[in-house]
Amino acid sequence: MRRFLLSLILLATSSPAATQGLLDWSQDEVSAIERHGPWPPPPAHDPSNRVSGVPAAIALGEHLFNDPRLSADGRMSCATCHQAGRDWSDGRARGFGTADLDRRTPSLWNVGYAHWFGWDGAGDSLWAQSIRPILDRREMGGSAAEVGRLLRDDKALACGYERAFGNKVGDNDERLLVDAAKALAAFQATLVSPRTRFDAFRDAMVAGDRAAAARYTLPEQRGLRLFIGTGNCDTCHFGPRFTNGEFGDVGIAFFVRPGEVDSGRLGGLAKLAGNPFNLLGRYNDDASGASAQRTRHVQRLHANFGEFRVPSLRQVGRAAAYMHSGSLATLDEVVRHYSEVSPDRLHSDGTPLVRPLGLSPRQRTDLVAFLSSLDADAPPRPAPPPLCP
Ligand code: HEC
Ligand code: HEC
Repeated sequence: MRRFLLSLILLATSSPAATQGLLDWSQDEVSAIERHGPWPPPPAHDPSNRVSGVPAAIALGEHLFNDPRLSADGRMSCATCHQAGRDWSDGRARGFGTADLDRRTPSLWNVGYAHWFGWDGAGDSLWAQSIRPILDRREMGGSAAEVGRLLRDDKALACGYERAFGNKVGDNDERLLVDAAKALAAFQATLVSPRTRFDAFRDAMVAGDRAAAARYTLPEQRGLRLFIGTGNCDTCHFGPRFTNGEFGDVGIAFFVRPGEVDSGRLGGLAKLAGNPFNLLGRYNDDASGASAQRTRHVQRLHANFGEFRVPSLRQVGRAAAYMHSGSLATLDEVVRHYSEVSPDRLHSDGTPLVRPLGLSPRQRTDLVAFLSSLDADAPPRPAPPPLCP
């Protein structure tokens, strides 16, 4: 009897009717869903980096990424903070180098498709962004001279360099630092996140395959409907990566410590303008100049104060914490934030894109279910083969 009751309960809770089925989607909604794919996208190519997509540079970049000799004390590599087993982040709410950092370490998934880098957009190329942590004293604290010496003195790296760049390691340290960063960028651009439950649903909807689409649970579908509909989320979390690559203010506190603020995009633009490695400088390999257009035309406006880059939402459920400051601990807290955000906290001029949504508990769990459907396990990464065996 007990067994019978138990199986009845199991039947009731696992009954497909409770979670399976297909909502009635309008043509506009299907179009909005379609714009979040296809996944994976074609490989990223960066015209400002002459070794972008070159296999020998990708191999060199992976070795350098894992090499602690890029840091002053020989103990910290890129992989210390961007760990393959932690979705290329560090499992912490805020970064930690030789000292505490004020921002969360972003995941490097799909970073090759971005056009601004860092939470404040202080970088305009993946290679320039890769120079920053090598030189930053709170991160690796290295120098061009040390990177130059490493590439000249280490036989395997020198050989890997020659294969990647087609010339022998020279004696201009600054150029070698930039080349090391370009190899690092070539490697990072290959980090593409796996297909997810959402992608299967999106493709099924586009193909008109109702049976396959119905494998996406009803809470996931209802959350998606909110995301592209009344939630207005996809004005900023747009396209296949769920980001428009730009900046916004969603009302997250920007106080780092009492009396000290993180001005976000406003400070990032000042750093960008003063960076000798930006795309307007001599190390941009794109002779056409087209890749420097954004940097040339970007304006620094007071409205940029407190804006941060719109993060991609792929693999979002796997993050250790949320927002630039790591100040929200769970996806439920993020959704609650959007539900209750106070309009006074937003600095945006004109019509605000974010307003308190006043979601019901079920709507909140639906949104979290949808966001979680953007995650998937990536296969473990094998150790890179030796350079120049
Ligand atoms: C001490 C921890 C730490 C180390 C070491 C580190 N990073 Fe980072 N990384 C961060 C943090 C924190 C940020 C966010 C910085 C910001 O927004 O100001 C970041 C941002 C980035 C970004 C921008 C990602 C994006 O989505 O815009 C890239 C690319 C990156 N790091 C690559 C590297 C590379 C390459 C190395 C090694 C040369 C490296 N990092 C070493 C902590 C680290
Ligand atoms: C105005 C543009 C905009 C809109 C609209 C918007 N977001 Fe965001 N979202 C952002 C920005 C910018 C951040 C990062 C803020 C920060 O770090 O301070 C963010 C962060 C997030 C994060 C945390 C990601 C991470 O890695 O930390 C999630 C999850 C998220 N948004 C989901 C949503 C959902 C769900 C909606 C709709 C209810 C939404 N967003 C609406 C711009 C927007």
